Amino acid sequence: MPAKKIVQSGLRWLVVLTTLAACTKKESYLAPANDLVLNIPSHFPSPVYNFETDNQLTIEGVALGKALFFDPILSNDKTISCASCHFPEAAFSDPGKAFSEGVFGRLGSRNSPAMFNLIWHPSFMWDGGVNHIEVMPIAPLTDFHEMDMDWADILSRLNESEFYKREFKKVFNDVIIDDQKLLYVLTQFMATLISSNAKYDKWARGEVQLSPQEQQGRQLFMNQCNTCHQAPLFSTFDYKNNGLDSIFLDEGRALITLNSNDLGKFKIPSLRNVELTYPYMHDGRFSSLDEVILHYTDGIVPSPTLAEELTDSFQFSITEKKALKAFLLTLTDWEFVENDAFRP
Ligand code: HEC
Ligand code: HEC
Repeated sequence: MPAKKIVQSGLRWLVVLTTLAACTKKESYLAPANDLVLNIPSHFPSPVYNFETDNQLTIEGVALGKALFFDPILSNDKTISCASCHFPEAAFSDPGKAFSEGVFGRLGSRNSPAMFNLIWHPSFMWDGGVNHIEVMPIAPLTDFHEMDMDWADILSRLNESEFYKREFKKVFNDVIIDDQKLLYVLTQFMATLISSNAKYDKWARGEVQLSPQEQQGRQLFMNQCNTCHQAPLFSTFDYKNNGLDSIFLDEGRALITLNSNDLGKFKIPSLRNVELTYPYMHDGRFSSLDEVILHYTDGIVPSPTLAEELTDSFQFSITEKKALKAFLLTLTDWEFVENDAFRP
């Protein structure tokens, strides 16, 4: 049995240790469903999640996970689905909104992150409060500001639905829908969200050239940004304080570790598709990439936990700023955001 899968929510002073049906035997999940093999991009490292558990990736499982992702039945007032805050056309972020609206118009206090390449993430949430993709959906499903459900209600709604009874049976060859099965199929859909066909990727595979301006931007990026936003995933997924504040309204990683050395540190976001995932930062404070670049050149606020890399602010000329932005725009993966497989 792997390490415990944990959902912690520092913001809400709540700790949930999952006690999901442990180690269900594979035999009981033997289903006529068709196996699916994920195409792992050749220029990516190995994923951290690879379906070595009892979760068997199947075409039917992914389709069911997708149906659930877009279905408001999983929220208290039946108006909010996962996709209400994670829009496919914006790389599964909530474009233009600093904070997303959950059930009954409730607002959260963090910006909805984009969703792609999740099987490479060692942890989830801006503060890393969730340590495993299979338990990730528990947080939004039960959060007061998001979907505000409890497990009993979720399971009774699903078990009363003829559609879901039939679809779950196709995947698991079993008519009873439980929490583990729901989490498995949501994980299956999330796992398929692989973004690896931006102009940058085509360049990395030797298929296209970058323009001279994009090349200049790439050089600047490799020198100044890549230690944290490391290619090809454009994040190391570590936690850093990138100099937004000296007084931390949101304590970030420290809410989970309870360590003052982690005050104001947040999970480094991937910059893939960053053109589409505005506004930026954990609280959506910047609405454009120009503002973000200005932050790194002129706005770094010193504090005891500020990342070393950022103690000397970056000096970019106007031409260099434009080049950096041009490079960031090569990270937009139109094939990913326009892929019908990820639409309802
Ligand atoms: C009301 C808006 C809302 C809804 C509905 C919602 N999310 Fe989110 N999601 C967020 C916010 C905000 C965060 C960041 C929370 C934090 O860091 O504390 C987040 C974080 C995530 C992350 C972590 C991403 C990362 O890079 O760490 C994943 C994965 C995710 N949500 C999947 C889902 C799934 C699956 C559902 C449906 C079961 C869902 N979300 C429903 C707003 C929402
Ligand atoms: C020391 C690590 C570090 C370095 C170096 C760094 N960043 Fe960041 N970056 C972060 C962290 C951490 C965040 C999230 C901070 C938050 O939300 O509180 C972030 C956020 C961003 C965002 C917002 C993304 C989003 O989805 O909200 C952009 C854009 C960005 N950085 C671009 C850059 C660029 C361009 C450079 C180089 C000039 C750079 N970063 C250098 C750590 C770093």
